[in-house]
Amino acid sequence: MKKIIVIGASGQIGSELTMELRNRFGNDNVIAGDIKNASHDVMNSGPFEIIDVMNENRLEEIIRLHNIDQVYLLAAMLSGNAEKNPKKAWELNMKSLLSILDMAKSGGLLKKVFWPSSIAVFGPTTPRENTPQLTIMEPSTVYGISKQAGERWCEYYFNKYGVDVRSVRYPGLISYKTEAGGGTTDYAVEIFYEAIKSGKYECFLKENTALPMMFMPDAIRGTIDLMESDPAKVKIRSSYNLSGISFTPKELAGEIKKHIPEFTVTYKPDFRQQIAESWPASIDDSDARADWGWNCEYNLASMTEIMLREVKKKLDLVQVTL
Ligand code: SER
Repeated sequence: MKKIIVIGASGQIGSELTMELRNRFGNDNVIAGDIKNASHDVMNSGPFEIIDVMNENRLEEIIRLHNIDQVYLLAAMLSGNAEKNPKKAWELNMKSLLSILDMAKSGGLLKKVFWPSSIAVFGPTTPRENTPQLTIMEPSTVYGISKQAGERWCEYYFNKYGVDVRSVRYPGLISYKTEAGGGTTDYAVEIFYEAIKSGKYECFLKENTALPMMFMPDAIRGTIDLMESDPAKVKIRSSYNLSGISFTPKELAGEIKKHIPEFTVTYKPDFRQQIAESWPASIDDSDARADWGWNCEYNLASMTEIMLREVKKKLDLVQVTL
C-alpha cells in the first residue's frame, strides 16, 4: 500500500485533498503535514506532523519515519502575498520543491511527486483567450516567476533523473471548507461570505476582469486522477493547463443575485488588478483532456448554488456556537 504525505494540509487545497486521499487510500496511509495545525477533520482522521518545508532535514526525517513514497507538495506563498515579500516567496516556493525533487531522484525515498503550478506562469505577453499549453510565458509576478521556474525544474528532474513528478496549472480555486489566503483570485471566495453576511461586497478587481477559476471538487478529482494515471499517459512533465469556469466579478455577482436579489457589489481595484490583467482570461486544456481524460463538471450556476448553501451553513454554525 502506498504511503502519502500532503504538505500544506491546513491550506485551501490541502485540507480537502487530505480528506479525499484518506477516503480513497485509508486514513493511516495519508499523513497530513503543515507548519500549523490543520482543520478538525484533518487532525482527527489520521496522522499529522508539524513540518516547516524550509527545514530539509526534518522533512526527510518525517518522510523516512512514515515510509512515505508519494508527496503532494502544496506549501507555497500565493501571488498577492508574494508581491509584498518577494525574496521570502522565492525561497519558500523554490527550496521546498528542490528538496522534494532531490528526495525523489532515482533510488531515492520518493516514488511520485505532485507539485502545483498556476495560471500565474503566464504573463502580459501571453495570448489571453483560450491560452494554449505551449505559448509565450513571461510572468511578471514573483509568484509566477517561481511557478515558471518550478515547472522547468520538474521537467528537468524527470528528464535527467527519471523523477515521476506530475503537475497542473491551477486556476483560481473556489471552496467553502478552508479560505484561501493572499491570492489574486480570492475575491471569488470572499464574495460568497460577504453576500451572506452583509449583502454587499467591495471587490478588489474591476468588474470586467475575466479570470480562469475552478470549483474545488473538480480540482481535487483532477489532481488525484493525474496522480493515479498510468505514467505513459503523463506526457507533459512541466505542468498541464487545466480549465474550469471563466468569469468576471460582474458575472459572478449576477449569478449570486439570482439567489440574493438585494446583493450589491462595488469595485475598488487595488494592486491585484494589475496582476489579474497579466493572467489569462480562459485556458485551453485539450492536452490534459487527451492525455489522461481530464474533464470539468461544475459550471458557474452549479458552483454558485453549492457555495451559497454551504457558506450559509458554516456561518449559521458560527452564530450558534457564539
Ligand atoms: N489563486 C492563485 C493566486 O491568486 C493563482 O494560482 O495567487
